[in-house]
Amino acid sequence: MEYNKVKDAANIIKNSNYVINNPEKYKNKWNDLFGNKNPINLELGMGRGDFIINMALKYPNINFIGLELNESQTATAATRLNNQKIANLKLICADAKNIVNYFGKEIDTIYLTFSEPWPKKHDESKRFTHISYLKLYDRIFKKNKHIILKTDNKGLFAYSLETLSQYWYEFNRVSLDLHHDEDPIPNIMTDFEKQYFKENRPIYYVDASFKD
Ligand SMILES: C[S@@+](CC[C@H](N)C(=O)[O-])C[C@H]1O[C@@H](n2cnc3c(N)ncnc32)[C@H](O)[C@@H]1O
Repeated sequence: MEYNKVKDAANIIKNSNYVINNPEKYKNKWNDLFGNKNPINLELGMGRGDFIINMALKYPNINFIGLELNESQTATAATRLNNQKIANLKLICADAKNIVNYFGKEIDTIYLTFSEPWPKKHDESKRFTHISYLKLYDRIFKKNKHIILKTDNKGLFAYSLETLSQYWYEFNRVSLDLHHDEDPIPNIMTDFEKQYFKENRPIYYVDASFKD
């Protein structure tokens, strides 16, 4: 699926009330920014933001942050939010590899939604479930670690189950076909997921956690 390049994306991002342009400033202070003590859930690689926006609308007592590297996609999410007032949502346009600069131990759940699979061995460290990323997440999880991952990519899914279990995560729920699971899992679709759903492709899902 191709995304369009958004003209003036940098300006849209700069002027959006939702995009936090200096996330370093809020390290350890995100609850102050949201003005409450509610949990904070973070999506890495939110794309155009469908999932995180709808999660924020559905769960007003949870704070949501969508992080996305690409300016055009962040600008599209910001534009969609123009006429909405969603107090429990913020966006960041940045590289996920820098999350420890933006967050202290204040995140409750991380969503990894249709992340790039990086199939080549030499790109393995870019996968969001590579051990180096799991170690970064340790530094931003508040207390317990909790990751929810969805993907259409079997290889990335198998890899992620392996790295997560090697890192002592436990699996609370696994599905090899999220949309046709016998015991339905509450779900909000991402932008990519909507497309794959139309194509009737199975979506792999894991809810994993590690409790001290
Ligand atoms: C395949 S898209 C999925 C987008 C969205 N999660 C969805 O399901 O519709 C993967 C997204 O991850 C973003 N991404 C890739 N590497 C990233 C990184 N290191 N930091 C932040 N975002 C990244 C890409 O720009 C892209 O928007």
